Amino acid sequence: MKLKQLESLLGGLQQFSNPKVELEQYPTGPHIASRMLYTAENSFGDVCDKVVADFGCGCGTLGVAAGLLGAEHVIGIDVDPESLELASLNAEELELDIDYVQCNIKNLGWRAEVVDTIVMNPPFGTRKKGADMDFLSVALKVASQAVYSLHKTSTRDHVKRAALQQFNASSAEVICELRYDLPQTYKFHKKREVDIAVDLWRFVPKSKQGPEV
Ligand SMILES: C[S@@+](CC[C@H](N)C(=O)[O-])C[C@H]1O[C@@H](n2cnc3c(N)ncnc32)[C@H](O)[C@@H]1O
Repeated sequence: MKLKQLESLLGGLQQFSNPKVELEQYPTGPHIASRMLYTAENSFGDVCDKVVADFGCGCGTLGVAAGLLGAEHVIGIDVDPESLELASLNAEELELDIDYVQCNIKNLGWRAEVVDTIVMNPPFGTRKKGADMDFLSVALKVASQAVYSLHKTSTRDHVKRAALQQFNASSAEVICELRYDLPQTYKFHKKREVDIAVDLWRFVPKSKQGPEV
């Protein structure tokens, strides 16, 4: 599938109608989501024929993009049942077979590397300190191949240190810096759009790299 077609299909998905501030529910727009998944597939081969999980899937954009790019199986996980209902409708609309699980990421009981790739736009941790790091820590335990994640650029050094020193990543690479146009989702956002710099990361979990040659 071409990038423009992917972006256009993602642009047609339903998004949060009544976002919950405490869960930091803001969607990844089609421009960023399409490029995130397209890069994961076309530069690294991390999507097609892989088992992909979308952590904090919300209305399902990233997982749907993985499905459209040929993932073998996609699992979307979110703590919020209303978001999962919308995500299911979005997947159905595009005739994608995606499993949705209601769960707090911190309580995910997966004991081993059960998925190849994780894609996520976790809460930035502005409402609940450390929420972004909770997601990253779990993701690096249960992915065998790669974790793609968006984090505020202002946290770059912290994210890198935590990934490499605490969460056992073997590599932590910023693929690109993006401008994230947060729609005026919440009343406390004064401007119409809140424009922040965000890094797209690719992490590789440690024990899962192939043998060195
Ligand atoms: C920034 S939104 C991203 C939504 C969607 N992935 C996207 O890219 O459009 C973060 C999502 O994480 C979910 N979330 C927040 N805390 C969570 C937790 N502890 N466990 C699971 N999901 C959580 C929210 O409900 C929300 O859907």
